[in-house]
Amino acid sequence: MNQERIMPQKTTRIGLIGYGQIGKAVHGMIDKDPDNGMEVVFVYDQIGEMVADLSRELVLEDLGEFDSRRPDLVVEMAHPSVTREWGKALLEKTNYMLISVTALADPEIEKMIEETTQRCGTRAFIPHGGVVGMDALQENRDVWDEVHVTMKKPPKNVDCANAGVDPDSIVKETVLYDGPTRGVCPMFPRNTNTLASIAYAGIGFEKTHSTLVVNPAWDTATVAIHAKGEGVELNVERIEGITGVTGASTPASIFNSVQTIGSTGPGIHLR
Ligand SMILES: NC(=O)c1ccc[n+]([C@@H]2O[C@H](COP(=O)([O-])OP(=O)(O)OC[C@H]3O[C@@H](n4cnc5c(N)ncnc54)[C@H](O)[C@@H]3O)[C@@H](O)[C@H]2O)c1
Repeated sequence: MNQERIMPQKTTRIGLIGYGQIGKAVHGMIDKDPDNGMEVVFVYDQIGEMVADLSRELVLEDLGEFDSRRPDLVVEMAHPSVTREWGKALLEKTNYMLISVTALADPEIEKMIEETTQRCGTRAFIPHGGVVGMDALQENRDVWDEVHVTMKKPPKNVDCANAGVDPDSIVKETVLYDGPTRGVCPMFPRNTNTLASIAYAGIGFEKTHSTLVVNPAWDTATVAIHAKGEGVELNVERIEGITGVTGASTPASIFNSVQTIGSTGPGIHLR
């Protein structure tokens, strides 16, 4: 018997900001399945060369024109400065996912996002990104007495410009930061998104303790989370390859969050 296919819900129109390692990969994953109910309606990157291979209709030359493409969701995969400069304008018109989560360590930015979404009825999303176990951290946020995260990376994969450190001068295991997560984010804004997400999901930027360690002998990135509260203890560690500032599993993780929000296609969906 021929069953007529029911039309999927409305297609989610998605705008992408930042077309580097993660942006390109996420675009490819969205386009791979034409039935997933998602359509990329613009791509914006501050460097024209990054989007030179895309069709002219897809590229947005001026981010100020984003609303002309009527996006349902804009995904930032560029730099925390995008949220500072554009977060309010974007959230006044549409929903916004920021993956450069260190932006939230600035209380004024967090307040601006919260206020704009309340005023305009839009939604901001923080993906779990590099955090394994963000669901457990969030669901038990009232239970944790302490959360400690140790991040280990090769120094060549850490952008030390804001911290005034020369990564080439580091010859042995070195602790670059040890203290409240609020302080590490502005020092290493491109490298500590995972720490920021853990703080935001759990007990906040002041109470979450972060340690950032580098060693030129390492060629992997490690994130080890330890959380403890009454009657419960959580220990999670992931070790993975790293290219630039991004761990190997991050592009697939970001796509997963985008499709959790945007996909309207058929199939069995894990939530
Ligand atoms: N949430 C997470 O777990 C997580 C994990 C890894 C990386 N990140 C963050 O994701 C972002 C992208 O990472 P990536 O590895 O793809 O980086 P990348 O350097 O490969 O690409 C970034 C792209 O964004 C563009 N860009 C930078 N600033 C911009 C701006 N102000 N406006 C428009 N375009 C701009 C750059 O030209 C580049 O093409 C970074 O901020 C990184 O810190 C988050």
